[in-house]
Amino acid sequence: MLSSPTVSPTAEPLDRGGIWLGPTGGDSGPTGAQEKAVALRATGLGKRYGAQVALDGVDLEVGHGELVGLLGPNGAGKSTLVKIVCGLVRPTAGRAEVCGAPAGSRAARRAIGYLAELFRFPGWSTADELLRLHQRLAGSEGGDAERAELLERVGLSEARNRPVEDMSKGMQQRLGIAQALVGGPRLLLLDEPTSALDPVGRRAVRQLLEGLRGRGVAVLLNSHLLSEVELVCDRVVIINRGRTVAAGRPADLAQRSGVEVETGSGLRRFPEAGREDTPAIVARLVAEGERVYSVREVSASLEDVYLEAVEGESS
Ligand SMILES: Nc1ncnc2c1ncn2[C@@H]1O[C@H](COP(=O)(O)OP(=O)(O)OP(=O)(O)O)[C@@H](O)[C@H]1O
Ligand SMILES: [Mg+2]
Repeated sequence: MLSSPTVSPTAEPLDRGGIWLGPTGGDSGPTGAQEKAVALRATGLGKRYGAQVALDGVDLEVGHGELVGLLGPNGAGKSTLVKIVCGLVRPTAGRAEVCGAPAGSRAARRAIGYLAELFRFPGWSTADELLRLHQRLAGSEGGDAERAELLERVGLSEARNRPVEDMSKGMQQRLGIAQALVGGPRLLLLDEPTSALDPVGRRAVRQLLEGLRGRGVAVLLNSHLLSEVELVCDRVVIINRGRTVAAGRPADLAQRSGVEVETGSGLRRFPEAGREDTPAIVARLVAEGERVYSVREVSASLEDVYLEAVEGESS
């Protein structure tokens, strides 16, 4: 598990503790250009495992304080992309940068927090011990206060001395999120962080992510829970078979939906029409002698957009 080795004292670890915001740069510290760089930039990212193409030229940017959802069917390449950003997997084409530093470099690793898709913490370790270990790995000086704050933020204060093996799946996942936040990362990479959470836990994580956004932390969130992504993400990128098939703000993507008019002769659909076309459509129908009972702008859900984007291509 990677955490960012930053100084993150107490009350506002993310504001004060971000690696790029420290008072001195040091050898591996950020330059001014790196501070200004976007949190994540992937350009033409490609990855082959032998004959298997996992990523086939993906471009992706996440700005500071931006929450981006990375969606796609099983095997689309989402986890591969995240692992490249962490430096766990080497791309075979293109490049990825974290706050201006090449992915995998010490400076890039310092800036990220990561919760892997399939993680396993040692069963004997308590929540508090696990966070303490990650503070050491990350070089965080947040101490007791940081651990207490993180456990509280994921609703595990009561379980701080409970061994991982005595925790439910959802509790372990929440501990994983706390682990990813150790040291106050500038870019948080969460690979399906809420798959085991109940609805209350998911809402708590949504609120936590919104709080991070307010503090300028960038988040790349892999998830299959589209309704949740729609609620929390500023932007989504949908990939399929290693390529981007749709990208944009959830509301914009969902706009191409059309207008439905209930008439005396049945339901008439105008799939290409938008709200601004409605008066003309109604006027024309009335001029043609139709009786109009209701008009509805149909708004597609993110699920509709997703299914249309990946339809028939899933492996
Ligand atoms: N270490 C590996 N060796 C060989 N092939 C791999 C390896 N890791 C991933 N792949 C392949 O790369 C492709 C992308 O896998 P990846 O795990 O990135 O998908 P994903 O979008 O995260 O899927 P999921 O939604 O199931 O988590 C798949 O075809 C997968 O089999
Ligand atoms: Mg995955």
